[in-house]
Amino acid sequence: MLNSKKILLGISGGIAAYKTAYLIRLFIKAGAEVKVVATQNAFHFVTKVTLETLSKNKVYDNLFAENNDYLTEHIALTDWADFFVVAPATANIIGKFANGIADDALSTSFLAFNKEVFIAPAMNCKMYEHFAIQKNIAFLQSKGIKFIEAPVGELACGYEGKGRMEEPENIFTFVDNYFENAALLKGKRVLITAGPTYEAIDPVRFIGNHSSGKMGIALAEVFAQLGANVTLVAGPIQISTNHPLIERINVITANEMYEKCIKIFSKSDYTVMAAAVADFTIANPEGSKIKKSKKLPQIKLIPTIDILAELGKNKTSKQLLIGFALETDKEKRNAINKLNNKNLDFIVLNSLNDIGAGFGYDTNKVSIFDREGNSKHIELKSKKEIAKDIISYLLKIQV
Ligand code: CTP
Repeated sequence: MLNSKKILLGISGGIAAYKTAYLIRLFIKAGAEVKVVATQNAFHFVTKVTLETLSKNKVYDNLFAENNDYLTEHIALTDWADFFVVAPATANIIGKFANGIADDALSTSFLAFNKEVFIAPAMNCKMYEHFAIQKNIAFLQSKGIKFIEAPVGELACGYEGKGRMEEPENIFTFVDNYFENAALLKGKRVLITAGPTYEAIDPVRFIGNHSSGKMGIALAEVFAQLGANVTLVAGPIQISTNHPLIERINVITANEMYEKCIKIFSKSDYTVMAAAVADFTIANPEGSKIKKSKKLPQIKLIPTIDILAELGKNKTSKQLLIGFALETDKEKRNAINKLNNKNLDFIVLNSLNDIGAGFGYDTNKVSIFDREGNSKHIELKSKKEIAKDIISYLLKIQV
């Protein structure tokens, strides 16, 4: 996957910098072109001559060097590269990246770069666990920067712990897999729904539910990481999404969600309805706030459209349609009824009886039931991992 890719390799001043000589060779052997941008401290651990010889390119390490090819070398380099790998990334350089500091060639190049960035951190285990580092890493991750996690092992300082740079072969495989995965569902269109819907009683109050939207968001993100074009129709939830392949449409009510989904569905190869859609709405919402009075207000409920069942009626043989079922009792029977009644390819059952699964949690425990009578039970794990399992199930049965 890395053949003819243009890679900008950032090296900062950690002992593992000497291993980047090998990383450059791996990239070049795979057919990529490599240019290096390094901090001055990196040269304590690997020489400029080594890096220039292996990459067959000049190393960029000084913003104001007279022999730079361009006056704005950081812009020329970042325009040139397809992606950026920073290995090793010290605590200092991660701190600069997270805070927008640009006082050397590497941190300046990072700020000028708007494509994929992979970071392989390397530092002492106590530094790695420090709240300031963890905060910086979490912030960069939330902005889409990919971290190649430091494994546990022997550190140069004599400690044993998490903090050593991942081995060059594993950095290479991580990046290579990333681009292979990113092409897997290229051209596929996916519709995902997430979160609750709110049905207004008056301008102040509503009927809603506890759905956090985390499962639907995880599905949208994994589909996008696999290269699919995702439309995410999200009810009122607090989670942000920032993947360029996710187009997000925010809605409030079940009816708004229906209007959006029915339009998008015919163009979707895969649809996963993870939203907890309200089954009832208010027949007569008040235009102004209902005031307290001795006479209690009467709220008349009417059913909403079952979006999933409607999509099931319109489904063609080329499309896959997946639903969720949230049950408290007779779980399997209810889920299989929904699978059949809504014309789904498979259904993902959540039970509210399982600890750590369902509303609000970062984890889930689910069972999948498909039309052919097959089932799969997935033990408690993160919603992101569950999303991967659901998608690999879908890809196995795809038409
Ligand atoms: N669903 C939908 N539109 C609705 C209600 C539900 O599209 N108005 C979808 C959900 O997104 C989910 C599936 O149908 O994928 C099952 O939802 P669930 O709430 O478990 O079941 P319901 O069909 O609403 O039935 P019940 O509430 O009686 O269990």
